[in-house]
Amino acid sequence: MKKKSDLKPFGDYLEIISHSHDRYKVFDDFLTIIVCTLSLGRKEELYKSTIKPYTKEEIDLFCSAYASLINQMDRNQFNDPFGDYFGEHLSNAQNGQFFTPQYVSDLMAVLANVPKAGKDTGNEKDKRVYDPACGSGRLLLSSAKLNRERYFVGADISYTCCLMTLINMCLNSLRGEVYHMNSLSNTVWHRWLIMIDEFSKLPFIYEVEEEKETTPKPAAVLIEEREEKKEVKIKPLEAFDNNGIGFVTFTAKA
Ligand SMILES: C[S@@+](CC[C@H](N)C(=O)[O-])C[C@H]1O[C@@H](n2cnc3c(N)ncnc32)[C@H](O)[C@@H]1O
Repeated sequence: MKKKSDLKPFGDYLEIISHSHDRYKVFDDFLTIIVCTLSLGRKEELYKSTIKPYTKEEIDLFCSAYASLINQMDRNQFNDPFGDYFGEHLSNAQNGQFFTPQYVSDLMAVLANVPKAGKDTGNEKDKRVYDPACGSGRLLLSSAKLNRERYFVGADISYTCCLMTLINMCLNSLRGEVYHMNSLSNTVWHRWLIMIDEFSKLPFIYEVEEEKETTPKPAAVLIEEREEKKEVKIKPLEAFDNNGIGFVTFTAKA
């Protein structure tokens, strides 16, 4: 077992695995593994199929990368190590995937005049932060530095970006939603909720499956149902409706 101080930055472990696998796939698989571990056992099959192509040594490297990521996030709450790694090693500006430098996004959050924690104006618009092209979610994180009690909504056309945002939000215990969608045409492919379990106070990810699911149940109920192998009965997903959301828009509209 490695000590915290022995851990290298998480990207170093991914780089070793990338000697024998495609680097983009390694990063995507790393994100998928983390999402599975934060989904309260609802993604076991996906987890197994994701780790299948890797050797035991490579799986150990993923574990070290995960431990290192947690350590990095612990030391720097609301910062975005994913975006930095992605920008340095993976972004080829596909879909305009250059992320805002952290100090600029912190400044933008201040300029967007996010109400401070506890200051409830009673206005729905002041309670949500929405980024319709969220990348790794760093504008949402900057906003959370000012007031973490708000409801954070991120959307992106890139599945990889959605996973980065989801994990960034979940590991910082922020409530909200992430949409894998085209924000210009309003076409939605995936939707996840980040919830805080009432009993354990731990955050978890809940993927809303279209046609099948609506409001997620508390973690304790999900665990009980999983153990009893009961089918989770759920109502149809509400249509995505931008107009219903009052939000602070960070990204300029096209
Ligand atoms: C320049 S990055 C900005 C990311 C983030 N808002 C930031 O400031 O760090 C633009 C993001 O928009 C996403 N994007 C491009 N076209 C989009 C669309 N039609 N709908 C949703 N997201 C889109 C890209 O995948 C990319 O992550």
